[in-house]
Amino acid sequence: MSQKCKTAYITTPIYYVNDVPHIGHAYTTIIADTLARYSRLIGMETLFLTGTDEHGQKIQEAAEKRGKKPQEYADEISAKFRDLWDDFGISYDRFIRTTDEKHIKGVQKAFEVMYHKGDIYKDNYEGFYCVSCETFFTKTQLIDNEFCPDCGKPTTIVKEESYFFRLSKYEEQLLKWYADEEKCVLPKAKKNEVINFVKQGLHDLSITRTSFDWGVKLPDAINDPKHVMYVWLDALMNYITALGYGTDEKEMHFWPATVHLVGKDILRFHAIYWPAFLMSLGLELPKHIGAHGWWTRNGEKMSKSKGNVVDPREVANAYGLENFRYFMLREVPFGQDGDFSQKALIDRINSDLSNDLGNLLNRIIGMSGKYNDFVIDSADVTRFHAKEIEAADTIIETLPAYIYDLQLNRYLEELWKVLTIANQSIATYEPWVKMKEGKKEEAMALVALVANLLAKVSVMLSPVMPETCRTISEALGFTIDTANYDRLVTQKALLETFTIQKVPPLFPKIEEELLKTEPPKVEETPKKKQAEKEEGIITIDQFFQTKLKIGTILEAEEVPKSDRLLKLKVDLGEEQPRQIIAGIKEYYKPEDLVGTQVCVVANLKPAKIMGNLSQGMLLAAKDKNGLALMRPESPKESGTPVG
Ligand code: MSP
Repeated sequence: MSQKCKTAYITTPIYYVNDVPHIGHAYTTIIADTLARYSRLIGMETLFLTGTDEHGQKIQEAAEKRGKKPQEYADEISAKFRDLWDDFGISYDRFIRTTDEKHIKGVQKAFEVMYHKGDIYKDNYEGFYCVSCETFFTKTQLIDNEFCPDCGKPTTIVKEESYFFRLSKYEEQLLKWYADEEKCVLPKAKKNEVINFVKQGLHDLSITRTSFDWGVKLPDAINDPKHVMYVWLDALMNYITALGYGTDEKEMHFWPATVHLVGKDILRFHAIYWPAFLMSLGLELPKHIGAHGWWTRNGEKMSKSKGNVVDPREVANAYGLENFRYFMLREVPFGQDGDFSQKALIDRINSDLSNDLGNLLNRIIGMSGKYNDFVIDSADVTRFHAKEIEAADTIIETLPAYIYDLQLNRYLEELWKVLTIANQSIATYEPWVKMKEGKKEEAMALVALVANLLAKVSVMLSPVMPETCRTISEALGFTIDTANYDRLVTQKALLETFTIQKVPPLFPKIEEELLKTEPPKVEETPKKKQAEKEEGIITIDQFFQTKLKIGTILEAEEVPKSDRLLKLKVDLGEEQPRQIIAGIKEYYKPEDLVGTQVCVVANLKPAKIMGNLSQGMLLAAKDKNGLALMRPESPKESGTPVG
């Protein structure tokens, strides 16, 4: 992103409607929202796009499972995403749905353009498909000849007529783009992964399916009604159809995108397929594709099937939406994974936000009220504190570069150095002593210094914490807008004479809040703790870290060359059954197990047992009389939690 560009076009991925929004979706959207707000602040004409990805086999199957029509189901979940973003005050300008008529027309137009260019041809596809990832694989890419290398779920064999996109044709051009545009894919380490992948050679891409029909039909001119478009072709096009590509083209001046924000799991689609499609369409390539890492829970990726998903609404309700935004952006360097921990969140709120930021405002209100009836004049700041102001302006000057490189954690880290200058200045110059010595002018120069530093910080922090910063700016008697960005940041000027407005504390003490929601804690003596440890006593929270679910055995067979093992397919109410390798062959015949129910440890890390992937564990009790599987007393729906 360059400040010289007059327009900014920021996008999130469009979210699949097979699942309700979770913290990972919120993370991408909050980063994008921050970039969009920043772009507006510095005066760029900004378009921020988000939306939902509603076609494809995965959505069709998810809808069928719930007895709903795909469109009805998509309407329901798409609304949940939109509601969440509205409740979170996400400043999106467009919300696109891939079932929108305008989008469908645009995708068909793009297909036609690529077809007429000779980049699309018809052939037969034979390979493997992971419905969960909506990705094609060759046999050599699979784990155990069957499982998806990305998510570990079983793939299905696909053998059907298909249209192909000549991806291989664009290999050299892609490599040239990566070489010429240093920051086209960020961060660098991720870009190198992409380059290595492309260097291994690109195969042409199957871009239509015939085995289901929940997708965009091919353009009428091609007249092949049994095909629907591959969901990723359909989905990626959203970035241009939202601007009117193929229909009214009204907003195509926003193209190329400034930043496409994506998670690392979908970088390949964005950094390889998408630019190749754009080359074929004769359109410019995006300026930056930024791939962030995953939020994990105890080191594992969050997913509904593992039952370890963090609900962003719950976190925002418990800790404050803007505190949550700050935490997400500050805690984890862009591109790296981060483990979600409430303790880390509370520490950030209490230390960075309450101590460094909130207290500073309280002290300004207190000192200005006591010393000068809340009136502050900046006239003496440069006379007494030129050094501090200059140091702060020098730091602030470096901040835009971090935004452009998507290093939001560094941006915030550097910004906090300005708060450190402010807080240290109070400690060093002790204005209360100056007042006692009758040096009111010096004391008030110090108050003016720190108020101006806080004003500058609030402008720069406003894209991350808009409401908090609005309150700060109201307290300091100015508004955060492009004019004041130019004045306080670009021109390094100061506020003039202003009157402080009292506001309630910005960050109420988090411990107090938490105590209200947590069960009362029993005082434990070290002795008692030690005794419990020895007896293996765990807390209820520790128990619930193990997710137990009822599963229905769909298939059972012996593992060749093993006396102990059976290979089971177990339905846990998820999109795909799990494969579980269980050491129960001596006690059960495979055919007797099919159709019976079991109790499964559902959030166990997948492991390979005798070369077979095992995605869970069955509960069983064994004594001298043999082994018995733990089962529900009466039939329960597959996936019912136990606990
Ligand atoms: N529909 C596709 C995107 C098409 S864009 C043309 C898709 N959707 S998704 O709903 O599965 O994921 C959307 C985004 O959420 C991805 O960028 C993904 O990386 C992100 N996250 C999903 N789980 C995540 C975490 N646990 N942590 C961080 N982000 C992760 O893929």
